[in-house]
Amino acid sequence: MSKELTIGLVGFGCVGSGLYEVLNQSNLIDATIKTIVVKDREKERSLPKERFSFDVKDIFEDESINTVIELINDSDAALDIVKQALESGRNVVSANKKLIAEYLDELLEIAKRNNVSFLYEGAVAGSIPIIRNLEEYYNNDSVTSVEGIVNGTTNYILTKSNDGIGYEQALKDAQDLGFAELNPTLDVDGFDSKYKLVLLLKHAFGITVNPSSLLNSGIRKISEREVAYANEKGYRIKLFSRAEKVGNKVVAFVAPHFVESSHFAYSVDNEFNAVVVAGLFSDQQLFIGKGAGSYPTASAVLSDVSALKFNYKYEYRKTIENSNLSYSEDFFVRVYVGSSYIESINEIPFYKVDELFQSDKYSFQTGWVHFSDISNIDFNNREQISLVVLPDPLRLAEDFESKSKDGNYQEFEHVAFS
Ligand code: HSE
Repeated sequence: MSKELTIGLVGFGCVGSGLYEVLNQSNLIDATIKTIVVKDREKERSLPKERFSFDVKDIFEDESINTVIELINDSDAALDIVKQALESGRNVVSANKKLIAEYLDELLEIAKRNNVSFLYEGAVAGSIPIIRNLEEYYNNDSVTSVEGIVNGTTNYILTKSNDGIGYEQALKDAQDLGFAELNPTLDVDGFDSKYKLVLLLKHAFGITVNPSSLLNSGIRKISEREVAYANEKGYRIKLFSRAEKVGNKVVAFVAPHFVESSHFAYSVDNEFNAVVVAGLFSDQQLFIGKGAGSYPTASAVLSDVSALKFNYKYEYRKTIENSNLSYSEDFFVRVYVGSSYIESINEIPFYKVDELFQSDKYSFQTGWVHFSDISNIDFNNREQISLVVLPDPLRLAEDFESKSKDGNYQEFEHVAFS
């Protein structure tokens, strides 16, 4: 049965104000934003001052409010608000990927104990309805991989660099357009993509992975050398989150990738995101849409509000079905490593080298590394080194090793990954 929703909205920034507008413009959803709580009393906003409250108590002390929508930047403050809202028996909608990735199981336990919904479609890939699809549509078709571009800011910056616009200017534009996080390091160093990957791992494979266990290498170290290499080979560079299942293992990481022109992501530009889900029987399916910005993200939040009208809850069925799956670093990945210093490249333990270029000013090497040998390297802050993943990049360790006994790497077959 459709239920009356009375909303307490926390946050009125880019997404919060967008939600207010799209909810008012949508005649289809009967829900009322009763209270809006914000932090800054002085900030100019699109609504009159009297419309705002400055204390979250105004939501929790109002028994008519049955739904809390949390859309603030501060994930520590958001954690307290979300926990309190769930404990108080209210449904919660959030788009805070950092908060959810870091505390998902704890928040789910609270939601379950209080028999309330906790929805977060807006937290992953903006307007693309990926969480709900993984929950519902792929329920009976075992997902084998999820990969793609899930950060609008970095895709915008990478696109603009192709157009000759510099990094600083492109980042500023992404901030002005409301794509970037308050702290853009979260975007450009791949943290935001990693938090989203954690949520994809939960809904695609049913596994909980602590974000601190996952490699995130971002785009700050991409130099004109990598762009030149991409141009020479006919590639483009895209920041990818990828998760793939092989047997009972799941591999997952975030890194820039060289993308071939035949690849689905090659022409996905600006703030658009793209996610490909591969299923055992469905094969590959591609989702494309705006991954950042006020209205696109608000539209995903609105779809959660709409689902709450019918008491919708995520069921996390894959958590139960796939309970023997676990995160693994036991695989090989094909990478490009570039640096002005050959010594920096030599510090990366390559298992097999495909290509080596050396000059006075710049060197690069391509080939295969064992993922566990690089998974703890902080590529974002390691001086003088750029990491980019090459096309068709994954191989199982056991396949690689069985070939290596013959000393015959070149003939190595692509067995399990696609
Ligand atoms: N900063 C994020 C992005 C916002 O650029 O994708 C949407 O999650």
